[in-house]
Amino acid sequence: MKALVLSGGTGTRLRPFTYAMPKQLIPVAGKPVLRHVLENLRELGVTDIGIVVDARDRRIAAALGDGADLGVRLTFLHQEQPLGLAHCVVLGRDFLGAENFVLHLGDNVLPEGIGALAARFAARRPAAQLVVQKVPDPRRFGVAELDADGAVLRVTEKPDRPRSDLALVGVYFFTAEVHRAVAAIAPGRRGELEITDAVQWLIDAGAEVRAGEYGGYWRDIGCAEDVLACNRRLLEGIRPALAGGVDAASRLTGPVVIEAGARVTGSVIEGPVLIGAGTVVEDSHVGPYTALGRDCVLRHAGIADSVTLDGVTIDRVGGLTGSLIGRAARIGRARPGDGRHRLLVGDDTRIEVAA
Ligand code: TTP
Repeated sequence: MKALVLSGGTGTRLRPFTYAMPKQLIPVAGKPVLRHVLENLRELGVTDIGIVVDARDRRIAAALGDGADLGVRLTFLHQEQPLGLAHCVVLGRDFLGAENFVLHLGDNVLPEGIGALAARFAARRPAAQLVVQKVPDPRRFGVAELDADGAVLRVTEKPDRPRSDLALVGVYFFTAEVHRAVAAIAPGRRGELEITDAVQWLIDAGAEVRAGEYGGYWRDIGCAEDVLACNRRLLEGIRPALAGGVDAASRLTGPVVIEAGARVTGSVIEGPVLIGAGTVVEDSHVGPYTALGRDCVLRHAGIADSVTLDGVTIDRVGGLTGSLIGRAARIGRARPGDGRHRLLVGDDTRIEVAA
């Protein structure tokens, strides 16, 4: 089986971060979302992976190379415009050939893995096997209606009045039959070639379309809150490892990872916490549920339930929580006695000060 990973798109909901990088490179628990995806695929034994990226953006290729360090072989497929998930399958036609494949959105994290679902697909080989999960508000998702036996009767994209509570997870198993479907459908309401329309086309053509329920944790990294929630969840599972330096005046509780070259002095680190390589933490309180990027500097800082990207400086500012802080951002105090705030803030940024 091959895989097609979708890592194009515009990532508007994750601005301003997506001005600087594709959303699939935003780190959760110290690793880009996309790495979590590729590791899941490798777990399945899938090593031949096509990856759809924005044709103008070389950053994913720069970050992943040919995939050798992950034990996979990556083929980059360049998408000129985000014309939809089914358009990505059209783009992948030559790469996929006649093989079965798993389509995995590059911003969906399923830490429990999809091995059982892949095995079920391999045993039965329906034209399509969807992955579904019960959600409280299905209106934001593709929604599947099933019969009692797990056959899919109908799929609808973001319905106003959902007829089931089964949302489509961003993982689909297909045989080569899907190529006829994506070639036959027209763009939908959003002007995109919808994967749900391709699946519905298969159902209408009498092909077997099934669904398997995924019971584990699933998060679609659409906005900042998703990044933070997923970070919390993945940090819960980290194995403590102290490659960096910690002085005797510091106190560590809970699972803590301190990467090589990082240095912690006079601080409280309340795990789960991950401190990236080369980061310096002095006289600060970090955690719980916090992942600091590489080469950050925190002095007299307090931060919990947050993610910082690389090169962030936080100087004499405490009480930070629920924060996602972009690369090389500097957070510090105004001049003493000034009594006012000073902000040099980029486009589409959000600031919430203490009430
Ligand atoms: P979306 O969540 O629709 O991603 P988006 O970039 O459009 O986000 P936003 O709504 O915030 O603007 O897409 C899901 C995944 O599929 C994501 O990893 C991007 C990828 N994708 C493509 O690779 N090509 C496409 O044409 C589309 C629509 C999405």
